Amino acid sequence: MHIEIEPKIMYFGTTVVLISTINGDGTSNLAPMSSAWWLNQSCMLGMSSKSQTVQNLIRTKECVLNLPSTDLIPAVEQLTLLTGSNPVPETKAQRGYRYEGDKFGISGLTSIPSHQVQAPRVLECPVQLEAVLQAVQPFEQPSSLVSLEVRIVRVHIHEQLQVIGHPDYINPVQWKPMIMNFCEYFGLSEQLSSSRLAPVFGPK
Ligand SMILES: Cc1cc2nc3c(=O)[nH]c(=O)nc-3n(C[C@H](O)[C@H](O)[C@H](O)COP(=O)(O)O)c2cc1C
Repeated sequence: MHIEIEPKIMYFGTTVVLISTINGDGTSNLAPMSSAWWLNQSCMLGMSSKSQTVQNLIRTKECVLNLPSTDLIPAVEQLTLLTGSNPVPETKAQRGYRYEGDKFGISGLTSIPSHQVQAPRVLECPVQLEAVLQAVQPFEQPSSLVSLEVRIVRVHIHEQLQVIGHPDYINPVQWKPMIMNFCEYFGLSEQLSSSRLAPVFGPK
């Protein structure tokens, strides 16, 4: 039996991403988000244009998508309800957000230089994807939401994620993404079975 409902959110479970960008004064910003999906060498991000991250992305056209594993939930919690926007936009202030100029410091995460972009990488994240902005589109108008297409230009992974003998392949058994599922944190289960798609994209 199915029933009709009108949920406030449709967060059916997506990867948490920590986006690092460069502020107008040259300092760095770091923000958690999870409306992200992946296609080929690109990623589509869904964000409010009121966020400092989107302002920075539109200005600099660069970012790093840092993918935390489940052990970094405490650091992501430290970044929650913070914004790099000063003053804090009214709608965010009403929801309890406050300004924070040192997101790396407050989360205890370590900033390290990137290779292709100015925005720093997060050392503790096992996956760090340097990316450049390709397109911005309004999303679900009227609203402040936008979709941002970014192209990945450099991929850094922790060596433990690499498939032994296949340098350009990531071992999905080793990768433990942090999943936001209706505003709660989850991990993935163990592998359930192999897929008929695996031989198409997997190491030969
Ligand atoms: C786990 C998590 C996921 C989030 N996902 C999104 C998202 O997909 N899109 C969005 O606009 N904000 C999302 N947020 C809220 C942003 O983190 C928030 O807007 C923050 O103020 C952005 O920081 P900034 O203003 O410094 O860029 C998420 C927050 C958390 C903690």
